[in-house]
Amino acid sequence: MSILVTGGAGYIGSHMVYALQDRGEAVVVLDNLSTGVRGLVAPGAAFVEGEAGDAALVRRLIAEHRVEAVIHFAGSIVVPESVAQPLRYYANNVVASRALIEACVHAGVGAFIFSSTATVYAVEAKQPLSEEEPKAPISPYARSKLMTEWMLEDTSRAHGLRAMSLRYFNVAGADPQGRTGQSTPQATHLIKRAAQVALGRVPHLDIFGTDYPTPDGTGIRDYIHVSDLVAAHLLALDALRAGAESATYNVGYGRGLSVREVVRGVEAVIGRPLPVRESPRRAGDPPVLISDPSRIKSALNWQPRHDDLAEIVRSALEWERGLNA
Ligand code: UD1
Repeated sequence: MSILVTGGAGYIGSHMVYALQDRGEAVVVLDNLSTGVRGLVAPGAAFVEGEAGDAALVRRLIAEHRVEAVIHFAGSIVVPESVAQPLRYYANNVVASRALIEACVHAGVGAFIFSSTATVYAVEAKQPLSEEEPKAPISPYARSKLMTEWMLEDTSRAHGLRAMSLRYFNVAGADPQGRTGQSTPQATHLIKRAAQVALGRVPHLDIFGTDYPTPDGTGIRDYIHVSDLVAAHLLALDALRAGAESATYNVGYGRGLSVREVVRGVEAVIGRPLPVRESPRRAGDPPVLISDPSRIKSALNWQPRHDDLAEIVRSALEWERGLNA
């Protein structure tokens, strides 16, 4: 039996593939390499270049590799880009997921884990966010993720597919063993960009928005180490195998950091000031996203092991340094 990982050549997916292999799971990766990198896929994993929404291909892979569970990372993830190109986001994230889910139902795959997002919640929702807070996504990206959550909920009620949707907060850092990391040259993530600035590859860091209703005026996020996020998926997989019902979980640490606090954290690691430039807000960015992770801690016994900004920044810097070496 094996696990099908869509988007397994991407940032988070490639960490997932290593984690699965580290514990002896057989893995098949499906990735169209639009942003993924073939070289990030762990040696030993089967690799197929193709679309997660290609139902015929997925059905063939499920049969050939005796797939028992699907972990679905493939998708487009950049909030401002989704505001400019909504139809592309609905195609890549909703239409493709629908085809993938249908292929799973037809082939009798019983377990599905989906990469959802903290941005599904209403801007007015109470922070830290519990899973029950009202949902009112403000970007096409976030809407596309909530639509897919709904498809999974409805499908799981109607058919045998059990699904877990994990609402990621802000994922950062790299594999502590240095095997993979964020490698998209145009990546927009704050900590990735800060690492590029710290290494002198980008002249300055833009602070997008200094007039948010937050103590220092900059956006607040709950930054979580990619290894802790991947560990949550392993627990979700184990729970589904043990017969757990479908569920939705926040995955974040439960503490918010402003953009300025992250900048200070990076400065503390590198021991000098980071050149910054104050810029207007980015389209579609909510002011504050902080997780209440109580549910995943109690239901899946998830325990963060890398809840430390300096460690996250160091691992991101380490990976970034190796990238252009
Ligand atoms: C990220 C993810 C999104 C996920 C969400 C969950 C990516 C590309 N985006 O979005 O998929 O659903 O977390 O919370 O993975 N900022 C700057 N300067 C920069 C970059 C960012 O000031 O150069 C600010 C942003 O305005 C924001 C914060 O830093 O306040 C984090 O931004 P970013 O790292 O891009 O992530 P999100 O947009 O929150």
